[in-house]
Amino acid sequence: MNTLSNMNIDELEEILSKLKKDLAEVEEERIFILGQTGLHVPGGTVKQYEAEVHNLRERIEETEKTLQGKKTEKTAFVGRYVCTCMKVTLKDLEEGIHNGARTFKDLHLKTHCGSKCGTCVDNIKKIVQDTVDKKPNE
Ligand code: FES
Repeated sequence: MNTLSNMNIDELEEILSKLKKDLAEVEEERIFILGQTGLHVPGGTVKQYEAEVHNLRERIEETEKTLQGKKTEKTAFVGRYVCTCMKVTLKDLEEGIHNGARTFKDLHLKTHCGSKCGTCVDNIKKIVQDTVDKKPNE
């Protein structure tokens, strides 16, 4: 199961958008149903709407917190070296990808990342894969 903490920023933003849309729909429906004059609405139905709205709001709050954490994490990581041997930062990798690199080898040729101890290679391959997968049409 894909938990919020395992999701990347784009996935979290997509989930958050869907949750907000669901909440808006449920609230709109609740207002419509409960606003019907002369219509008896059972107490169970009212509680059901309240529970659903409460649940969606909690999930939105949890998703927003996780998303904020991921964004803060990314901001802190951007300036740090991904490849300490060759002093290559995440920003350098992102610029390389922005300028056409699509594989680790492309980035290696541009930045020389991974050319000394090699401990960064798997991490860089994952960064490339995640970043390139987000931009399939570029
Ligand atoms: S950390 Fe990248 S080659 Fe050593």
